[in-house]
Amino acid sequence: MSVGATKSWCGLIMNIAVSGIQWGDEGKGKIVDWLAEKHDVIVRFQGGNNAGHTLVVAGTTFKLSLIPSGILHEGTLNVIGGGTVLDPWAFLDEVRSIARSGVKVTPDRLVIADNTPLLLPIHRELDQLREDAADKGKIGTTLRGIGPAYEDKIGRRAIRLADLADRDRIRARLEKLDLHHNALRRGLGAESTDLDSLHRDLLAIAPEITVFGRPVWKLLDDMSAQGSRILFEGAQGALLDIDHGTYPFVTSSSTLPGTAASGAGIAPQRIGHILGICKAYCTRVGAGPFPTELFDSTAQYLADKGHEKGTVTGRNRRCGWFDATLARQVCITAGIDSLAITKIDVLDGLDEIRIGIGYELDGKRIEHFPSSSDQQARVKPIYESIPGWSGKTESVRQMRDLPNGARQYLDRIEQLTGKPISILSTSPRREDTIELSDAGWC
Ligand code: GDP
Ligand code: IMO
Ligand code: MG
Repeated sequence: MSVGATKSWCGLIMNIAVSGIQWGDEGKGKIVDWLAEKHDVIVRFQGGNNAGHTLVVAGTTFKLSLIPSGILHEGTLNVIGGGTVLDPWAFLDEVRSIARSGVKVTPDRLVIADNTPLLLPIHRELDQLREDAADKGKIGTTLRGIGPAYEDKIGRRAIRLADLADRDRIRARLEKLDLHHNALRRGLGAESTDLDSLHRDLLAIAPEITVFGRPVWKLLDDMSAQGSRILFEGAQGALLDIDHGTYPFVTSSSTLPGTAASGAGIAPQRIGHILGICKAYCTRVGAGPFPTELFDSTAQYLADKGHEKGTVTGRNRRCGWFDATLARQVCITAGIDSLAITKIDVLDGLDEIRIGIGYELDGKRIEHFPSSSDQQARVKPIYESIPGWSGKTESVRQMRDLPNGARQYLDRIEQLTGKPISILSTSPRREDTIELSDAGWC
């Protein structure tokens, strides 16, 4: 590992995109908050309030979901891009909740793209109805209505933020949506939607939410022209991506950083660096394949020490070893330039650490993760073992203070993924973050 070396890949970067490279909850919020100081604008570009980020700053814990993780830095503009789906009620609840911690979210600090599709209560209800009906095939969604909201967007029925300005047309738009939803609800044995109350609620919330709406593509273009630095904040993780994830056990958006351009409305050429965030081990919440999952006392150790409980739903996260095969594959599909490794401190105290370096499928070794969901469920990991380290990585702030064993583990991750580590996080706190490049993030 090139500790302290100047890395030219970082030297001239303006805008960066940050994406999780596992199944979400990699610690993106912490890293985005840390990087936000060096950026002017932070943009969420996909997902919705299925995301949950925990930030620990100056002894206070902040929970964010839809609001970008740059909001704690007063000098930043925070933007929710049109590639997201926006639950206006959840958004305003979050605004009120964060205000109680002393952070004011006003339209001069936060902007929502006016082309953002709205997530309505009928989407949440459909999510729940589908999960209830699924029995064994449950996805284990966050029940926030994300899938149904994206379906309506792709189905060209969605109501978008800008549509709320046209109050007389809202009823007609809702009727169109209703027609579709009631057909589905009948099939699922549910009551019809309550169109009147939905209409009333939407009219009531419209003025509160439309004040945040602007054409974000134009705002970002203008700010870029003035030299503003933009950070694109991905939600979820690459293995939950609708195309490249562990389909069908995925979320309903494109989570890869390539989506940053379309989800925000900027030229892809404007993204100078793609930072992949991953935990030093793996977790997953919800159903679906997880080849390196553990079911023994080590799983419990990781869950307890890493506080592996979902921020959004409070569900226990499944835990397992770092899967280098999947990480390498994602580095290709997501176009990762460098890695930020989080939660190395959780591995402190283990006698042995394993890394998944390949799979066995039906008796044959394979070096990639197959696309077939049946095969994904059947692959067995091939492990390499390295000794644990004595001493702590927790709250270490200089690479030279890391135990040798931890340095070796990180070196091995770099070798196996083929990507340099540019950031190391050693605790939930903002200041326990090491930058491995003296060129800085511009
Ligand atoms: P996100 O969704 O990717 O932003 O991640 P979450 O916030 O849902 O989950 C990551 C959890 O790990 C949060 O509780 C963070 O406070 C915590 N965390 C982040 N980085 C570190 C780290 O380096 N060490 C430890 N122990 N916890 C961390
Ligand atoms: P952050 O941004 C972890 C998972 C759900 C479920 C699947 C589909 O905090 O990393 P959905 O509600 O999106 O239809 O659920 O995706 N999931 C996440 N897992 N972190 C997240 O976000 C997630 N967002 C969705 O648990 O398995
Ligand atoms: Mg999370």
